[in-house]
Amino acid sequence: MSRTTKVDVMVLGAGAAGMICAIEAARRGRSVVIVDHARAPGEKIRISGGGRCNFTNLHCSPSNFLSANPRFAISALKSFTQHDFIDRVKARNIAFHEKALGQLFCDGSARQIIAMLTDDMTEAGARLQLATEITDVSRIDEGFEVRTSGGVWQSDRLVIATGGKSIPKMGATGLGYDIARQFGHEVTETRAGLVPFTWASNMAESWSGLSGVSLDVDAHCNGARFKEAMLFTHRGLSGPAMLQVSSYWREGDAVIADLAPEQNLSDLLKSERTNRPKSAPWTILGEALPKRLVQQLEREAGIPAVRLADMNNAAIEQMAARFHEFRVVPGGTEGYRTAEVTLGGVDTAQLNQKTMESRLVPGLHFIGEVMDVTGHLGGHNFQWAWSSGVAAGRHA
Ligand code: FDA
Repeated sequence: MSRTTKVDVMVLGAGAAGMICAIEAARRGRSVVIVDHARAPGEKIRISGGGRCNFTNLHCSPSNFLSANPRFAISALKSFTQHDFIDRVKARNIAFHEKALGQLFCDGSARQIIAMLTDDMTEAGARLQLATEITDVSRIDEGFEVRTSGGVWQSDRLVIATGGKSIPKMGATGLGYDIARQFGHEVTETRAGLVPFTWASNMAESWSGLSGVSLDVDAHCNGARFKEAMLFTHRGLSGPAMLQVSSYWREGDAVIADLAPEQNLSDLLKSERTNRPKSAPWTILGEALPKRLVQQLEREAGIPAVRLADMNNAAIEQMAARFHEFRVVPGGTEGYRTAEVTLGGVDTAQLNQKTMESRLVPGLHFIGEVMDVTGHLGGHNFQWAWSSGVAAGRHA
């Protein structure tokens, strides 16, 4: 017979959201256990931001999130803001810097954020139980019972913080969605988000040669627009602009990018027609943009070699549009294997926005990425983990 341990709060998942929730609940004097099947806590924090963890964003606001109910996140984001988290980082003397667009990274290592959280858990008295498989979750009279490889736990409150499906190699599972459904919750359609695009088969061969070319673009898809870098890879398109746009993209949609957002290529070609009439237009463009990209678009265009002097305004404008309105229909995305986040998840309509508590099952909470709240790239997803985790921890 396995032994049964009783606690006030049980948290499933020792990621960003689960750990900050455990700290908050334990600081209120609640007995807390946090369980994870991984051998170490916060594995995604460790690998995030290239090992430096983009832990929040100075400009984080509800408009940085996708959800079937965009207003749901407002309350939690207001109650525990990016500045509240920054204060904790400062109090711990973790040096950090703003990289771009309000994105805050550790100067040293993402491990400092993990250490801050695990130390705070220890100090508050939350018990961390790693390498533990969760085999069954059920409702009992006084709360919940969770059967694990490390024994049976009973708790008044159960907090689901098991994250999304991205990077299954690192321990991501669909457990949180299964538990939600088990208790009668709706789970909105889940998809890979913040994920590189792959070429359609008709582009793969000719475009894979551009691998490594990177440039600033202004990209849009389905009404969302991002001005950031784009990277050509062997498999397709990546870089911040493409990752951002991927969260709005659906199969068959075109992604449109201005490859020279700070220049007017039409004006450039027209003025060079006066200055260097014998030059080829592609040569001029190759001076303003990555050469390999220009050569590829030249091959694609299949236009016979011309001199600028032989081009009328309409022909110049058409050529410039190839760069200002670059259009690609990706074949797909790299999927959960490389996605930073999972779009969709536990439907927020059945959750309380102040406490993250279920409206169907009192005492059950969902926090972090498992919910249908997904942030833009740039520290917003961690901020959601902190804000939703604290909201639940203050009430669980
Ligand atoms: P998270 O995934 O962190 O934690 C879930 C925990 O539950 C894990 O510890 C897991 O092991 C555990 N678990 C899952 N299934 C279980 C089961 N069946 N049994 C027991 N335990 C289980 N965001 C950002 O804001 N800035 C950044 O720099 C980055 N960078 C980044 C890089 C990469 C490569 C990825 C994949 C993701 C990012 N992100 C990011 C996104 C960010 O990592 C993510 O949104 C948060 O980690 C979500 O926090 P959660 O606590 O909700 O889930």
